[in-house]
Amino acid sequence: MAARGAVVALFALFCSGSLALVQTFQMKSIYCKISDSCDCDFKPDIRGLEWDLYRNLYGQHLAQDVVSEAVGDFLQKENPERPLALSFHGASGTGKTLVSSMVGRHLYGTAMSSPYIHQFIPTLHFPRLDQVQHYKLDLRRWVEGNLTSCARSIFIFDEMEKMPPGVIDVLVPFLGPDYVLFQTNYRKAIYIFISTVGEEVINELTLNTRLAGREREDIRLQDLEASISQAVYNNRNSGFYQSQIIPEKLITHFVPFLPLSRRHVERCALRELCQRGECHRKDVVEAVGGAVNYTPQDGQHFSSTGCKSVPAKVNLFL
Ligand SMILES: Nc1ncnc2c1ncn2[C@@H]1O[C@H](COP(=O)(O)OP(=O)(O)O)[C@@H](O)[C@H]1O
Ligand SMILES: [Mg+2]
Repeated sequence: MAARGAVVALFALFCSGSLALVQTFQMKSIYCKISDSCDCDFKPDIRGLEWDLYRNLYGQHLAQDVVSEAVGDFLQKENPERPLALSFHGASGTGKTLVSSMVGRHLYGTAMSSPYIHQFIPTLHFPRLDQVQHYKLDLRRWVEGNLTSCARSIFIFDEMEKMPPGVIDVLVPFLGPDYVLFQTNYRKAIYIFISTVGEEVINELTLNTRLAGREREDIRLQDLEASISQAVYNNRNSGFYQSQIIPEKLITHFVPFLPLSRRHVERCALRELCQRGECHRKDVVEAVGGAVNYTPQDGQHFSSTGCKSVPAKVNLFL
């Protein structure tokens, strides 16, 4: 018996070295699940996010203010009462995807490749209308599974206008204040939805403000939030068509992205040139500004593609 005991002890000793690493990992994971206090590789740098937004996002005072304030306030709470859900709206090329990647980059230190930042693109992940039930099940499991391993997960749903109606409703329990998800604090998660829905109201107000001779910075969030919320609820192609998420007010903020004018396009062109070591080429900046299409026909105030076509135009004129 004594010999057998010694063998067992020896075996345990032998294994303990090689298993130490695995055990440490498992212990951490168990501790995280029980205590709810591990935040994955979360390295929030709120000052960095603010700085990036103010320096590198042009013409979007509402997005700058709302995103830095909402994210900052949310992260200050050790136990937030509900997750942060931001919905970005505005025309193509105005900076929506750019801001979502800034948030990811400044909260996880790494680029968007972090395993705790999950990006969904409907044409890629939810392409078929006849598969809605299937997608709902998958999405629910995916979100639940990821929240269980990391409470501070970030979920980004880009191009929501292409999301089949109904799919996003599986998020209702995760977005509300009452859901109890075993072993995790699901309220620490951040959700970002992105779509062009609501661009008409945003563009119209920005145009009217300009025609009235007022500054675009005079536009306030309250001037747009209700009409964007209404637009997404009533639009069949918004991803939120008749979704409970809207009347239950589960979106923390609707964030409007205003249409960009020529001076913003030229700033985008200048930045692009500087990145290529050609900061001095003011002639190219001017040429790009002149080559972009502007709307409306009458007045030509706003770029119809935002800054999206700028790199291609810079290539053309450089
Ligand atoms: N407001 C902006 N300020 C600075 N750069 C911008 C802005 N809007 C767009 N850009 C530039 O144009 C590119 C495309 O913008 P993106 O964020 O993808 O637009 P969308 O609103 O369609 O998601 C970005 O990578 C960025 O370089
Ligand atoms: Mg985009």
